[in-house]
Amino acid sequence: MRLQKRWQPQGREPEVPSGEQLFQRVAVIGLGLIGGSLAGAIRKNGLAREVVGADQRKEDLLLGQSLGVIDTVAETVAEAVQGSDLVVLAVPVKATRKVLEEIRPHLAADAILTDVGSTKSGFVKDVEAVFGEFLPRIIPGHPIAGSERSGIRAANPDLFTNHKVILTPPDNVSRFHLDRLRALWEGCGATVLTMSVAYHDEVLAATSHLPHLIAFSLVDTLAGEDENMDIFRYAAGGFRDFTRIAASDPVMWHDIFLSNRDAVLRVIDHFTHDLDRLRTAIADQDGATLLSVFSRAKAAREHFSKMLSGQAYVTNNSENQVTFRLQPGGTVTGDIRVPGDKSMSHRSIMLGALAEGVTEVKGFLEGEDSLATLQAFRDMGVAIEGPTEGFVRIHGVGMHGLQAPRGPIYLGNSGTGMRLFTGLLAAQSFDSELTGDASLSVRPMNRVADPLRSMGAVIDTAEGGRPPLKIRGSKDKKLTGIHYDMPVASAQVKSCLLLAGLYADGTTSVTEPAPTRDHTERMLTGFGYKVERDGPTASVHGGGKLTANAIDVPADISSAAFFLVAASIAPGSDLVLRHVGMNPTRVGVINILQQMGANIDVMAEREIGGEPVADLRVRSAELKGIDIPEDQVPLAIDEFPALFIAATCATGRTVLTGAEELRVKESDRIQVMADGLAALGVVTTVTADGIVIEGGQTIKGGSVQSHGDHRIAMSFAVASLRATGEIEISDCANVATSFPGFVELAKQTGINIAAEGAVTATEQGAH
Ligand code: S3P
Repeated sequence: MRLQKRWQPQGREPEVPSGEQLFQRVAVIGLGLIGGSLAGAIRKNGLAREVVGADQRKEDLLLGQSLGVIDTVAETVAEAVQGSDLVVLAVPVKATRKVLEEIRPHLAADAILTDVGSTKSGFVKDVEAVFGEFLPRIIPGHPIAGSERSGIRAANPDLFTNHKVILTPPDNVSRFHLDRLRALWEGCGATVLTMSVAYHDEVLAATSHLPHLIAFSLVDTLAGEDENMDIFRYAAGGFRDFTRIAASDPVMWHDIFLSNRDAVLRVIDHFTHDLDRLRTAIADQDGATLLSVFSRAKAAREHFSKMLSGQAYVTNNSENQVTFRLQPGGTVTGDIRVPGDKSMSHRSIMLGALAEGVTEVKGFLEGEDSLATLQAFRDMGVAIEGPTEGFVRIHGVGMHGLQAPRGPIYLGNSGTGMRLFTGLLAAQSFDSELTGDASLSVRPMNRVADPLRSMGAVIDTAEGGRPPLKIRGSKDKKLTGIHYDMPVASAQVKSCLLLAGLYADGTTSVTEPAPTRDHTERMLTGFGYKVERDGPTASVHGGGKLTANAIDVPADISSAAFFLVAASIAPGSDLVLRHVGMNPTRVGVINILQQMGANIDVMAEREIGGEPVADLRVRSAELKGIDIPEDQVPLAIDEFPALFIAATCATGRTVLTGAEELRVKESDRIQVMADGLAALGVVTTVTADGIVIEGGQTIKGGSVQSHGDHRIAMSFAVASLRATGEIEISDCANVATSFPGFVELAKQTGINIAAEGAVTATEQGAH
């Protein structure tokens, strides 16, 4: 089921009226749970001079007055509406038309009329029937704050606090009236969203109406069983939770289903189709389908919970900020293993999904970026078990076994995810759309879209080659292999083209201007797919297959980098980092630090699953500034934010050139680092393709903005070890994209860090 597009009022943000006494007189027609609670909330928060109530049930009106829910009792609807500048209709949906007829002759020319019903198209129809048109000051509303309880006795003036209220204003809405109504609900503690009537009704059909229908139906079915007493006696907590809403008001729900008929029927059909598929799977002993659906649902549930509790996927939401606070000084010691390599984790899921057979992955990074990749494959029908403490089991579907996802694939913050998926999806038979968060949405994608187009792919980007990407499936036509000379040294572009090349006619080859990480080539080889390498060129021949493989993901050298710098700059430090990936295309950070005089011992070098691994011991050292060799830039591309901190603590000048790529990472890492350092009193010189840092400057305390870039946040956390005052780093939730458990691990080694705000589940869980 695809939901229709939301509607948002266009134009300039209006001036929001002050919260105090927004209205002279508010008439609430219908004093049930919602009407009574709103009346009470308006009074409690002083949002109107007078709240008048009208209800057929006279005793409820009097009770409302004695409970302090309303100021004045109106004998009739007419009496309530006359002289009111806001009229709220809070009667059962079925009674709406009749009450609107009573309201119409008495509604003042500039009064707002709104309602609180659970479906909106019915209200719109009733208004049109009664008023002949939809006036710009009639604004349908729906507070999402029901309860199984009903009636004036259950009214609660705090009912809307931290709840959402949806307003579905007409296209020609009066902005002035909309803003006042919005301010009223906000004054009652609610968050206000606006959307179209159709979108509201579809969303509610799926998220509220269908669950109520299922709960009523299930309890009814079980109550009809002979052993119903036993069933209910033994009902476990899950049953109680699941069927709680079957205790809601039957009359109200009967009204809702009849008035939201079309949207509800669509979602019921969709659900019964899927339920039937599960029935068939059980009948046929088809465990793979069950596992696929259940694990996808479990992951989706976790994904929703994350989104709902405002975690890294929604860090652009200003309510969900994480701030790091660091006390200056400290010594870094211990014996630790940082989480798994991000690049390899993405690729392990991708190749495992396309392989024949079951791939088991150890050491998988349970960070937001690689989890987004995992979720994307679940959305395309791949059964994936885990991750459980870094263990993932992928039931490969073969090169041609992916199914079309139901909606856009959301890749969060991950540029790697988006670029690799583009290559892979350009070669599938179905259409797809890739989206991401605010940072990913401004990153350049033509670097992959252009060469893919010359292979025959059809890809639309937003303006300037930015996401979202709309990829047309190549139904009847295969892609054609090309040779591509990459203008930038990018492993993501190379990997994207090689993945597309697996499906293309002939050979796809990519030449890189400088060595970039070669995990794709190594892992393809591990899955039995031949990759030819000739100096700077890697090529694949399309049409082969992948065979499931066991993968042991080493610790991410990019995450280890923060601790390599930390232990180098903090006096008296001595730290061991275990099982670190030492792929020669990734060790630039070690080469650069060693050239600066760092004391890093590489121990127990070994090869695991085609990738070199070692333990690293790092002790504090007097670092000196250097001119960073340009050939090391692609080999340390993600580690420069941390290296800038090392350079600040070194003696002498460090010069970085040839690193313009840093400007298009999760943030402009040259400028954002320079700004952060400036905020701590460190002067640098920014150049077009790098930076000049005079070492030995004092790092003062101060506030740094990370711009939602995980590596910037962690780098400034490390800087605190040599700071003279407290450092506050804002916008740090995205640390969970690459390094879940960073705060705990940093604390454990001796960095004086505290996180404030919403810390992600992965942050809390991982060590
Ligand atoms: C990555 C490649 C690099 C790197 C990114 C991960 C990969 O990007 O910055 O964090 O996994 O292929 P580029 O290839 O665009 O330089």
